[in-house]
Amino acid sequence: MTGDHPRTGISRGTFLRTIGLGAGAVALGDYGLAHATPFASPASARRDFTLNAGDAHFNLGGKRISTIAYNGLLPGPMIRVKRGERLRVQVNNHLGADTTVHWHGIPIVNKMDGVPGVTQPAIKAGTNFLYDFNVPVSGTYWYHSHNEIQLDRGLYGPLIIDEPNEKLSYDREAILALDDWRDIGSTHLTALQSKFYCDVATYAGTGGFGMSGNAFPTQPARYPLHLINGRPGNAPTEIRVKRGDVLRLRLINAAGGTVYRFAIAGHRMRVTHTDGNPVQPVDVDALDIGMAERYDVLVYATNPGVWQMAAQVAGEGVRTRAILRYEGSHAHVPPATSRPGTLEGKLLSYPMLNATSDVALPSGKPDLDVHLGLNTKFGSFWITWNGQIVDAVKPIHIPLNSHVRFRVTNGGTTQPHPIHLHGHSFKLSTGSGGSAYKDTAIVLPSQTLTYDWIADNPGVWMLHCHNLYHMLAGMMLLLRVK
Ligand code: C2O
Ligand code: CU
Repeated sequence: MTGDHPRTGISRGTFLRTIGLGAGAVALGDYGLAHATPFASPASARRDFTLNAGDAHFNLGGKRISTIAYNGLLPGPMIRVKRGERLRVQVNNHLGADTTVHWHGIPIVNKMDGVPGVTQPAIKAGTNFLYDFNVPVSGTYWYHSHNEIQLDRGLYGPLIIDEPNEKLSYDREAILALDDWRDIGSTHLTALQSKFYCDVATYAGTGGFGMSGNAFPTQPARYPLHLINGRPGNAPTEIRVKRGDVLRLRLINAAGGTVYRFAIAGHRMRVTHTDGNPVQPVDVDALDIGMAERYDVLVYATNPGVWQMAAQVAGEGVRTRAILRYEGSHAHVPPATSRPGTLEGKLLSYPMLNATSDVALPSGKPDLDVHLGLNTKFGSFWITWNGQIVDAVKPIHIPLNSHVRFRVTNGGTTQPHPIHLHGHSFKLSTGSGGSAYKDTAIVLPSQTLTYDWIADNPGVWMLHCHNLYHMLAGMMLLLRVK
């Protein structure tokens, strides 16, 4: 479908280059911008890792699939360091396409943020890049490709940063990474095909932003599979506990386009962190987790048996699960789609989340108070700035160290949008209580959420919807903190 797009004046090619779909470079000067990083600490210990991005083949519960992954693993290898350490990751690009790696949620030095065409030139096929940065925060994070739809094809992994002064006590921990899986049957794209697909999008239309509906990669109407730790519901991952254990679960939504409702049969969850940051503990039966969000929860193992840990997709029921198995319990696992009663219990909502006093939240009157509107039309998506459609390829100036308030309203769409700010976390306010410190929050249809943040990290940063397909179709902004 072709139509007048309100955001005239931006060629689609130019627009897409900002998110790395093209060969060009926006804001070239920013690549080499020599900012002093506030995080440099030459005395800290250094950890080195290697990520090889390339083709991979998996057996997903009996289905053979070909896709792309890091080090042939799904999810990619866990990267684990301590807060304050220096992390170096060598990325070798064995894909037939450009790539970069984004360290989601880390207030990183800008040139290591991994946004192709904005913070670095893309890592070309057959070449490599060394990410090298200090890690100033602790908690549950993740890394993923920021190119095209590579994240939705398997290029992601957990990034866990241990807190030297950990206050939680627990006996065991496990990571559960949730993922909607598109690379099956007709939705399969080889690396080369997906590159071609996106190149067509980049070069086919040069006359403004009017587009043919299929120019962008599109989200599957229904994902063929959903995975937890790379395994579908018919071959689930098992987490083992002993009666009396306290289990720390680190939940990561690594999906390209799916919000999950998560619950554990027979157990409540004590939410202790969101997006790496501690919250005052709150006990719930179920929680919604948007794309890129993380929750850490404690599970008290007081109810021996074999239990469903279920991930439900709105309108589709339980689509994947993991198993919680007590040592000595030999019961059969429940059916893959079995619905824990806890899915109907007390549901976490943002007003229940309050940062602990360890978190320094922005307070007082903002220096900049902006209304961001989330909109869609004709298959494209955009964000308005105080009611104006902005040129998303031109970074908007934000004075360094200013207190910024974004009031984000999902007024123009019927879908949830997990809006993520790069390089900073924000205090989330809902209008009905709560003050969590987060890097991504779901803005529901007709809802307004308030993001208060201190622009203390210089550079050009993205703000975008973490539905990959919404981002690629334009739901993004660039902010230049200077
Ligand atoms: Cu997970 Cu641009 O982000
Ligand atoms: Cu969205």
